[in-house]
Formats: sequence, C-alpha cells, structure tokens
Amino acid sequence: MAYGLLQGKRGIISGALNESSIAWKVAQRAKEEGAIFTLTNAPVAMRLGEIKKLAQECNAEIIPADATSTEDLEKLFTQSQEILGGKIDFVLHSIGMSPNVRKGRAYTDLNYEWYKQSLDISAMSLHRMLQTAYKMDAISEWGSVVALTYMAAQRTFSFYSDMAEAKAMLESVARSFGYHYGKYRKVRVNTISQSPTVTTAGSGISGFDKFYGYAEAIAPLGNASADQCADYCMTLFSDYTRMVTMQNLFHDGGFSMTGVSQEILDK
Ligand SMILES: NC(=O)c1ccc[n+]([C@@H]2O[C@H](COP(=O)([O-])OP(=O)(O)OC[C@H]3O[C@@H](n4cnc5c(N)ncnc54)[C@H](O)[C@@H]3O)[C@@H](O)[C@H]2O)c1
Repeated sequence: MAYGLLQGKRGIISGALNESSIAWKVAQRAKEEGAIFTLTNAPVAMRLGEIKKLAQECNAEIIPADATSTEDLEKLFTQSQEILGGKIDFVLHSIGMSPNVRKGRAYTDLNYEWYKQSLDISAMSLHRMLQTAYKMDAISEWGSVVALTYMAAQRTFSFYSDMAEAKAMLESVARSFGYHYGKYRKVRVNTISQSPTVTTAGSGISGFDKFYGYAEAIAPLGNASADQCADYCMTLFSDYTRMVTMQNLFHDGGFSMTGVSQEILDK
C-alpha cells in the first residue's frame, strides 16, 4: 500500500545491484510513494546490467559513480539535480564491500591494503557523499540521508571481520556529519541497523545461512526483510521524521534487545 509519503521529493539511491539488494526494494517503494530519483552504483556493477531493469521500471536515470571518488560524487550530485530539476531531498547510502571478507582472509590475518579499501568503500564514502553535497549545497532544507549498517558496530560477530570497524565508522560519520549538516541546512543523517538479509553482500559472509536462522530464532518478530527495510526508509525520507537525526536505528525485529529466546534454549 502506498501513502504518497514522498510525493514531490527528489532522491538519489545507491547500491541497487540486483533484485535482492535492499536498495532495489527502496527504489521500488520510493517510486510507489511518489518520489523521482536517480540510481547510482559503481561503474563495475553497471556491467552486470541488472540495474537497467530497475531504471526502466522506476523511470529513473542511472549515474555511475564510484563512492570512493570525489569527482564521481560531484558528477552524481550535479547531474541528479539537473535531471530531477532541483535540490535533492533524500539520499540512500547502501554501499558495503570488504576485500578481506570477499577473499576469505581471517580477522587475525588481515591484508591492510584491503582493510583500507573496506573502510574507504563502506564508511568513508558516506563522509565523502555528505561533504560533496555540503560543499555544493545540493541537499534541500529538511532533507534526509540514510545509510545502512549492521549491529557488528556495537557487538562482536565472529564472521563479520573488518566490516565491523567499517560499520562503527559509518555510524560515527552519521552522528558527526548529522550535527554539521543539521546546523547548516536542517538536513538529517541516520543509519538503519538492519537484520541479516539474503543479498549478494549478506550471503558473501561465511556462515551467513546459519547465522540468519540464529537471528530469526532470537528476534521476537523474526528477521526484518529487505522489503520491510524499504518501508522503514520511506518513513525516514518522509516529512514525518523531521526531528530524527544522528541516530542509529535498529530495524531487527527486536534482536538487539533480546538476550536469549525460548527457541534457542529449547535447541
Ligand atoms: N544483507 C545484510 O545482511 C545486511 C544487513 C545489515 C546491513 N546491510 C548493509 O546494507 C547495504 C546494502 O547491502 P545489500 O545487503 O543490499 O547487498 P548488495 O550487495 O546488493 O549491495 C551492496 C552494494 O554496494 C555497491 N558498491 C560496492 N562498492 C562500491 C563502490 N566503490 N561504489 C559504489 N557502490 C559500491 C555494490 O555494487 C552493491 O550494489 C550495505 O551497506 C550492507 O552492509 C546488509
């Protein structure tokens, strides 16, 4: 069901790789809620070509941008404003990648060049996006920026490796930049800490399937799906959450507040 929550709003949605991407669902929901937006992803992801299907469905243009390149991000904000006809009202940061995780390096044997890449791609990119937008004054007053994170920023999960540091940094950037952008243009910046979700990034983590079942058995409401995450994003992009900023918001069916569940004890 749609409510017209984003009627008249202009956005930028990053990170839609394929149909299982959380950003893919966010784009579909934003369209239903009346927004117009551009889609962006790393140029290398474009070659896979699936994003074109989404662009057609949403009547959106694709602007390739590597989130580690300031030049690419400047183009992204310039072209998005030209295409959409004004300043940007909402931005989704849905970007994460760790070469160490991808190549199966143990946390006790990290490759430090890859470690830097994990932080650059998955966390510094949020700062880079915000700083680019700030300098260009590209986000409208009361605009909303949301980045997706995971609870490994607060608690240790054996399989999450250097992405844990990346997420801790991402959440810290949201707080720090949230302060400065709030003062400057009343722009709000939040992170959503999402349940394990079956996507390319999620399933790339070893032991993900078992952990997915574990989290499902702990959370009283079960794991939050990508579609439900997209619903939550709509509220944060809408005008109904104007005073929510600098927050890390758990969207996990209650997992983060549960010690142990009866189901786990019974097992
Ligand atoms: N899947 C989960 O279990 C889960 C849980 C919590 C948070 N998250 C977070 O949600 C976000 C989206 O991940 P997803 O699960 O939808 O997986 P996904 O693999 O579909 O999305 C990750 C995206 O990051 C993009 N990306 C990688 N390097 C990039 C770069 N240099 N520049 C621009 N884009 C780049 C990829 O192309 C891809 O589209 C990530 O931040 C992820 O950490 C995922």
